[in-house]
Amino acid sequence: MRSREALFLLSVCALTAYYIYSPIPDNIEQKWKLMITDCFFRSLSHLADFGELLGLTDYMDVMMFITFLERVVPLSDERVKVAEERFDGVDVVVYEPRQERGTGEMRRAIIFMHGGGWCLGSSKMGPYDLLSRRMVTELNAVVVSVEYRLAPPHHFPVPFEDVYHAVKYFLQPDVLERYEADPERVAVSGDSAGGNLAAAVTQQLQLEPNQRVKLKVQALIYPVLQALDLNTPSYQENQHMPILPRTLMVRFWSEYFTSNKSFLTAMLTNSHNSAESVAMLKFVNWSVFLPEPYRRKYNYSAPSISTDKTCLSIADQRASPLLVPDTVLRRLPKTYILTCEYDVLRDDGVMYVTRLRSAGINVTHEHYKEGFHGTMMFTLWPTDFSVAHRMTDSYLVWLKENL
Ligand SMILES: *[C@@H]1O[C@H](CO)[C@@H](O)[C@H](O)[C@H]1NC(C)=O
Ligand SMILES: *[C@@H]1O[C@H](CO)[C@@H](O)[C@H](O)[C@H]1NC(C)=O
Ligand SMILES: *[C@@H]1O[C@H](CO)[C@@H](O)[C@H](O)[C@H]1NC(C)=O
Ligand SMILES: *[C@@H]1O[C@H](CO)[C@@H](O)[C@H](O)[C@H]1NC(C)=O
Repeated sequence: MRSREALFLLSVCALTAYYIYSPIPDNIEQKWKLMITDCFFRSLSHLADFGELLGLTDYMDVMMFITFLERVVPLSDERVKVAEERFDGVDVVVYEPRQERGTGEMRRAIIFMHGGGWCLGSSKMGPYDLLSRRMVTELNAVVVSVEYRLAPPHHFPVPFEDVYHAVKYFLQPDVLERYEADPERVAVSGDSAGGNLAAAVTQQLQLEPNQRVKLKVQALIYPVLQALDLNTPSYQENQHMPILPRTLMVRFWSEYFTSNKSFLTAMLTNSHNSAESVAMLKFVNWSVFLPEPYRRKYNYSAPSISTDKTCLSIADQRASPLLVPDTVLRRLPKTYILTCEYDVLRDDGVMYVTRLRSAGINVTHEHYKEGFHGTMMFTLWPTDFSVAHRMTDSYLVWLKENL
């Protein structure tokens, strides 16, 4: 009896260890912490799959648990004044320095879009709230954190349009004045899907001839930039990497556009392109835009065309900012791009760096060899990583020097 119990216990332990253990590259710091964090994300994802299989819930409804777990009520404190407002019908959280207005000193302004694959996340999550407060106190900035509506209830272009309307509203001279924000020092920034929205809205605004207030910089943190090729070397190399495995990123992309599962199936095999989007593959050709070390081990093959016409919006530049021609890139402001080695989205960011630089844009590219997708928001106990603090510090320094 005893030995059977021991054997049972041993098997449970072995299975648990097997479940928690995921091969993580040696140069990632705090490996065990990342394994346990990843195990939590994977378990939730399996639970979500299971719930959906049984027809009980939608996958993303279960995944939303992450957002609720980290939810905070953004409150004013002795240094930062916080208010929930609506900009042209879009919910935003505005963070301002506490010091009285009317001192005459104009402030920097940063419009920030949170990540979460357009389906998850909120400005009101601990790590975003903390980052906004740091930007206020360390940069003397007004921070507008945009609470855009999420897919799948709100497919593309709704999240983009929410961001666009909030940014347009804030850039009106009288609104900027109300917040004592300097019209010459406005930035747009975001991480992951928020980086996608930031890049897309920056392009749209720079194209509008009667947009008076221009953005000074854009700062993109491991941004998602294109839906055409979901088999870039980084997608292949990091398909099982923690936090954002390829299947989850593909799932986010498909949910952004449509709830039709046949599109997800096509995207998983990288055979979802339309005749229209195939003509734009030249803008995301990684054999041209990636530096040699990244493409060396891979042979380029162009994604194939889907036989059905489920969804044409993948060719839309407001969803895939990498699809604009150089003539549009030339008009963009100074740019900061952060990429991580162990991230399916690494090559999206690196390709944008190449394309922007060849269009003559001043780009600061910070690449973290020890980084994984989502790193920068792991700043709070118990899932805090030291690399996240280094990233945040460096990002703030860049904004301080360039905004
Ligand atoms: C991608 O670039 C390679 C050259 O590196 C070229 O042979 C191929 O035709 C290009 N494909 C597309 C779709 O642009
Ligand atoms: C790429 O193509 C070359 C030449 O055809 C071949 O030797 C090599 O094995 C291919 N590499 C991969 C990763 O498929
Ligand atoms: C999903 O897309 C497929 C292929 O285009 C189509 O045949 C099917 O009717 C669609 N399903 C729904 C529920 O719209
Ligand atoms: C790019 O910006 C940096 C400051 O971030 C500056 O030092 C550098 O001279 C600029 N480069 C060009 C080519 O303008």
